Amino acid sequence: MAKDPVRVLVTGAAGQIGYALVPMIARGVMLGADQPVILHMLDIPPAAEALNGVKMELVDAAFPLLKGVVATTDAVEACTGVNVAVMVGGFPRKEGMERKDVMSKNVSIYKSQASALEKHAAPNCKVLVVANPANTNALILKEYAPSIPEKNISCLTRLDHNRALGQISERLNVQVSDVKNVIIWGNHSSSQYPDVNHATVATPAGDKPVRELVADDAWLNGEFISTVQQRGAAIIKARKLSSALSAASSACDHIRDWVLGTPEGTWVSMGVYSDGSYNVPAGLIYSFPVTCKNGEWSIVQGLSIDEFSRKKLDATAEELSEEKALAYSCLT
Ligand code: NAD
Ligand code: LMR
Repeated sequence: MAKDPVRVLVTGAAGQIGYALVPMIARGVMLGADQPVILHMLDIPPAAEALNGVKMELVDAAFPLLKGVVATTDAVEACTGVNVAVMVGGFPRKEGMERKDVMSKNVSIYKSQASALEKHAAPNCKVLVVANPANTNALILKEYAPSIPEKNISCLTRLDHNRALGQISERLNVQVSDVKNVIIWGNHSSSQYPDVNHATVATPAGDKPVRELVADDAWLNGEFISTVQQRGAAIIKARKLSSALSAASSACDHIRDWVLGTPEGTWVSMGVYSDGSYNVPAGLIYSFPVTCKNGEWSIVQGLSIDEFSRKKLDATAEELSEEKALAYSCLT
């Protein structure tokens, strides 16, 4: 029997990530090839005409799984009945800007959209914040949508996770699909800590540690980390626009694994509400290694953290605490 459609909200749908993301969702990349979807697309009035153009293209593409499209500039209409909300709308970082520069523009957006989601989304709606500063926008959304369970609010660090997989695959000249269990700790910013201490590569002789195969700690503790941390800025420098196709694809990976589950023996990175695991201060949205089952994520427990890693986990937590304070100061 055909499944009932799932309603997926994309905010900022007329923007460049939105333009890459909505066809992926309509093709089943996010929720599966047998899952019909109804797309809800929100943007602001100056982008209304462009948004309507995206709607026209979705109709023209005749996606078999796409059972309806709502394109609107009204947040209440956009949020009504949605089961998944991908929050992309916001003010993007431009060349030379730090995420903090766009903070005040984005916190007020996330405060008002939190209320619309809380009042009008379907119960148990899963929320993914993509727009930067992603962790702190998600925290603001959580604060202003108190009836949405904190387990349902997340931010995107899967792009950083995928970037780390990509760097290891290039360095070792192995398939990216054979590399697993890297971790992105902390903020989706240049303070994030891409950690390979538990990562492995599938080989004919079984899984081998990345550290053993790379056999170059100076590279793993230096250039590898900074390349992943700075990749967003490198894309902006090259394209004069922030990453879009990789962000859209990673957003699909994030929701797919959250809803459908992570493969056995594999974890992924998600920005989630800290419960104090790994001595990360509770009350931050922080990227952890997680596994997902039955639509719920859980933080992978018991991983060893060496002194080098500890400092990096603490530094990115410190930045998030500062961002949180700055965000609250923008709200008052
Ligand atoms: P963009 O400027 O092309 O698109 C943003 C869209 O949001 C625009 O269409 C704009 O009109 C719309 N918008 C602005 N305010 C809105 C509001 N209040 N409600 C609804 N829509 C609104 O930007 P983009 O390149 O698509 O990037 C979107 C966001 O994603 C940026 O904040 C960017 O920094 C961030 N980003 C995050 C990651 C990540 O991994 N977390 C990766 C790449 C980009
Ligand atoms: C990215 O990681 O590509 C984006 O978050 C862009 C940015 O602002 O760095």
